Amino acid sequence: MKRLFSGIQPSGTIHIGNYFGAISNWIKLLGKYDCIFCIVDYHAITIPYDKDMMQQRIFEAAVDNISAGLDPEKCKIFVQSHVPEHTELAWILSCFSRMGELSRMTQFKQKSEQHKAHANCGLYTYPVLQTADIAIYKGEVVPVGEDQVQHIELAREIVRNFNTAFGDILPEPAELLSPTPRIMGLDGDNKMSKSMNNHISLTETDEELWKKLAPAKTDTNRQRLKDPGDPAKCNMFSYHKLVSSDDELKQVTEGCTTAGIGCFDCKKILCKNFSELIRPIRDKKEKLMKDRDYVLNVLNDGAESCRKIAKETMNEVKKAMGL
Ligand code: TYM
Repeated sequence: MKRLFSGIQPSGTIHIGNYFGAISNWIKLLGKYDCIFCIVDYHAITIPYDKDMMQQRIFEAAVDNISAGLDPEKCKIFVQSHVPEHTELAWILSCFSRMGELSRMTQFKQKSEQHKAHANCGLYTYPVLQTADIAIYKGEVVPVGEDQVQHIELAREIVRNFNTAFGDILPEPAELLSPTPRIMGLDGDNKMSKSMNNHISLTETDEELWKKLAPAKTDTNRQRLKDPGDPAKCNMFSYHKLVSSDDELKQVTEGCTTAGIGCFDCKKILCKNFSELIRPIRDKKEKLMKDRDYVLNVLNDGAESCRKIAKETMNEVKKAMGL
């Protein structure tokens, strides 16, 4: 089986963008690949964060992923900082990463602008650590959302530079996009993300869900109930496509284009369907949050087996480099 690697930041609750852009795809790939999933705490420190919340966030990221369906019996789940070889290899790979390429990364440009006072080298070399995350396990397949594709393309280049110098040691990783690789935020203008505060988290209660959906942007041509709308221009319809049945999609399309139903009714159907997706995840999360030992054991077991693989790769890399 080919090895698959992917990661997620412990940046608070996981949202619908993470779920449909990445996690739901990860779940489908369990059993088809040798899967490793990582909670990337070293990446999360590249922007200002609350140190007192970090352990809680890491724990919750693990719980969220398991609750969403990432079965620890079928994959390894661990925390990045528990395997020191990630940063060791990142240093080596930084010597094969071109500064021009790093400064062209969209995420670097956005985040260094967003956190001007805190624009640091970690933010700049973020994709190098990401490359090391994958390469330390000789990962070949990397399922991600669209926003990470640029980083995986760069990872290929960094690995290629390394291999050109020292022989074919690290495989060039390939991204695997989910069928829904870019989920827009509730504002309808930006990608869904926690930092934009335009997200629906995977654990919203029904009341919280409605509070977020009710004011969310729809097709701006629908000013009054009698104005027909165009689902193709409505962000709510893009959400419907994620969670609603074919019959409901038909009903909503017809209702919207003929002004037969209003945005309120359309959002009610959407809210019901999001709620049906979220409820079992929320219930499982509630149970797991109380089962600390189980979750910590999953992370410890994951780190232990990952350390073994990481050590072997590091030995091979150092030997090839004359270190
Ligand atoms: P992160 O934590 O930002 O996101 C985790 C995964 O969720 C996807 N995603 C989305 N997909 C579609 N629409 C959205 N609105 C949306 N928001 C997030 C992301 O594409 C990602 O797949 N740098 C990575 C973590 C990482 C990593 C790695 C990934 C570190 N090392 C090695 C792959 C391989 C990140 O910040 O993901």
